[in-house]
Amino acid sequence: MTKYFDMKNEIKEEEIKEAGKMIKNGELVIFPTETVYGIGANGLNSNAVRNIFIAKGRAQDNPLILHISDIDMIDDIATDINEIERKIIDIFFPGPLTIILKKKDIVPSVVSGELDTVGIRMPSNKIANTLIKFAGVPIAAPSANISGKPSGTTLNDIKEEFDNKVSCMIDGGDTLIGVESTVIRVMDNKIRILRPGKITIDDFKFYGFEVELDNNIFKEVSKNDRVLSPGMKYRHYAPQKECLLVYSEDITKLVNLVNKYEKDKKVLVVCKENKTKYFKNRLSMGNTLEEITHNIFHILREVDKTNFDLVIIEGVKKEGLGIAIMNRLIRACSHNYIEIK
Ligand code: TXA
Ligand code: MG
Repeated sequence: MTKYFDMKNEIKEEEIKEAGKMIKNGELVIFPTETVYGIGANGLNSNAVRNIFIAKGRAQDNPLILHISDIDMIDDIATDINEIERKIIDIFFPGPLTIILKKKDIVPSVVSGELDTVGIRMPSNKIANTLIKFAGVPIAAPSANISGKPSGTTLNDIKEEFDNKVSCMIDGGDTLIGVESTVIRVMDNKIRILRPGKITIDDFKFYGFEVELDNNIFKEVSKNDRVLSPGMKYRHYAPQKECLLVYSEDITKLVNLVNKYEKDKKVLVVCKENKTKYFKNRLSMGNTLEEITHNIFHILREVDKTNFDLVIIEGVKKEGLGIAIMNRLIRACSHNYIEIK
């Protein structure tokens, strides 16, 4: 039986302590972070970590992030950390950033997907941070969703898919940000963004770092390709419904396209709040990039509950936080994406 701890309105230390013990004992716990929910296990216990892969149906070569509660924990699990990496950690930890570092032997190969590196993140979410402290070990945690599905940003969306597969679920309400952390690796003294997130290119530039986007961020990568971030190879975030992502600065072009498809299909439009007036069947994503980021995974789950044949999703400009949104949406639409000039 899965235990359910409700902390939507207040944090209960005693219950987090109990959940921390479960982690320590090799059990699985679903917990909130500021990005998305995670499904966590003792990151130094191979058997416990293997159960995460089973619960999610996740490919074995896709490595997991180790979550820490204190910067001092980094030197227990990673080595050869250079000055740039230390500076990045000092500035951005705790927060929605994962840094890839050379791993120490103590990190099981099931965590690193047989790579010699490990992803490390220190969540700022109070429940997550306290849970790691009570567990007393780094927590290995991917996003809490069955592999391929949109990540969970509210417990209600994922409760059923993990019921009786984990020892406990902690409900911390909606996650603050809504997309997963920015994943980076420092290469040749430059930051390479492997997965875009809330911390953007401009945030790194602001502190004087050289930074570039990995070229696989918007590309279709196949299972046999060698990529820096194995997660990029897999179908992800995708609803069952057929989805088409459209970006245009001209609303009449989007309206015309929707009209064309509506001739022989039942079409649902997912668009910005201020565009909803143009469409009969629509779901609002919110207006600002922050709102869209916050809502997007929940909306991708909602569209599967409708009876439309085709979902047309309005894209955003690939700029700032828009890069993270478009990275998720392009993959949610299985690269079914057009730009209309
Ligand atoms: O915000 C987040 O990062 C959430 C919360 C729970 O912390 N976690 C998350 O984990 O999104 P996951 O497993 O769903 O995504 C981790 C991504 C994958 O794309 C994986 O391939 C990449 O990070 N990754 C992990 N370790 C890596 C490594 N050693 N080298 C390259 N990429 C790595
Ligand atoms: Mg994930």
